[in-house]
Amino acid sequence: MPTPGTDQIDLRSDTKTMPDPEMRRAMAEAEVGDDVAGEDPTVGRLEEMSAERLGKEAGLFVASGTMGNLVAIKTHTRPGEEIILETWAHIYRYEASGLSMICGLLPRPVTGVQGRMAPEDVEAAISDGSNIHRARTGVLELENTHNIAGGTVLSVAQTRELCALAHAHHVPVHIDGARIFNAAVALKVDPADLVAPADTVQFCFSKSLGAPVGSMLCGTREFIEQARRFRKVIGGGMRQAGVIAAAAIVALQKGPGRLHEDHAHARQIAETLAELPGIYVDLTTVETNIINLEVQRDDVDAPSLCLALETCDILAVPRDDRHIRLVTHVQVTDEDTDRVCRALMEILG
Ligand SMILES: Cc1ncc(COP(=O)(O)O)c(C=O)c1O
Repeated sequence: MPTPGTDQIDLRSDTKTMPDPEMRRAMAEAEVGDDVAGEDPTVGRLEEMSAERLGKEAGLFVASGTMGNLVAIKTHTRPGEEIILETWAHIYRYEASGLSMICGLLPRPVTGVQGRMAPEDVEAAISDGSNIHRARTGVLELENTHNIAGGTVLSVAQTRELCALAHAHHVPVHIDGARIFNAAVALKVDPADLVAPADTVQFCFSKSLGAPVGSMLCGTREFIEQARRFRKVIGGGMRQAGVIAAAAIVALQKGPGRLHEDHAHARQIAETLAELPGIYVDLTTVETNIINLEVQRDDVDAPSLCLALETCDILAVPRDDRHIRLVTHVQVTDEDTDRVCRALMEILG
């Protein structure tokens, strides 16, 4: 386990960050109340700040990205409908089948290029339910940034096109924007413009923004009130949640402004890797804070490379025998990045 305050560099995920002193102070001093009764002023403030930041009417604080997505999808759909999503969407692959188990949906995956679905493929997947053999499309889900594709971004124009197409068929759109601020920073756009065409968006405080817990679902006031009911159904009504919302407020205020540093660190590591023999990195996918690398050598595979890095106090986790995902975040400094690059050159050079 990484020990804060040591020299360990943790590149396994941006979920591994520890709350900084300002967050801990905010948590200790947070004004709280019973949020299930709408009485927690800190949660209320966070929900308002988040909705304003994303240009939506209202926000709902939830325990995790998984909960935010689940509550959104459940509120958008009815059992027996289909959800269109990218083949490697987090919600499809890594959210423990909540789509089927809780929402009663049939996933209709569409294969994208670097996580981006082509509009014509999405259109071909939409069903209005007039064919008795087909389920009706209940929702289109987009992921920005796309985790498994390597933190790739969907632009404002691409988002607009996909949303317009879905809306033309009366299909709502939900964005899994766990790292939406990374996308906005990489694209140099206002996050509100990026999510404006979609009906709802979920983003995480506990990833690149650096907070210990929590995510936010944003949408219309009416939608959020319905979502609030379902959050209660699945046990997501938290009581004095202002304690964790306080850290999320600090994350929302301080986090986005420094994400370009994480992106620069990821770029530096990716460019170092791309120069090393038998290591493949598609540099065109390194748009934000995630690097996917492939080990194409006989003398080392992904697990042994992770073990070698661990001896240098650098944590990484293999995705399989050949692939590793590295993620930069607030606790990876300029010096750490140089150290990672030197270690990679020593091990693989
Ligand atoms: C794109 C994306 N969506 C959703 C989630 C789920 O978030 P959580 O782990 O907070 O449930 C993750 C987690 O890594 C993610 O990368």
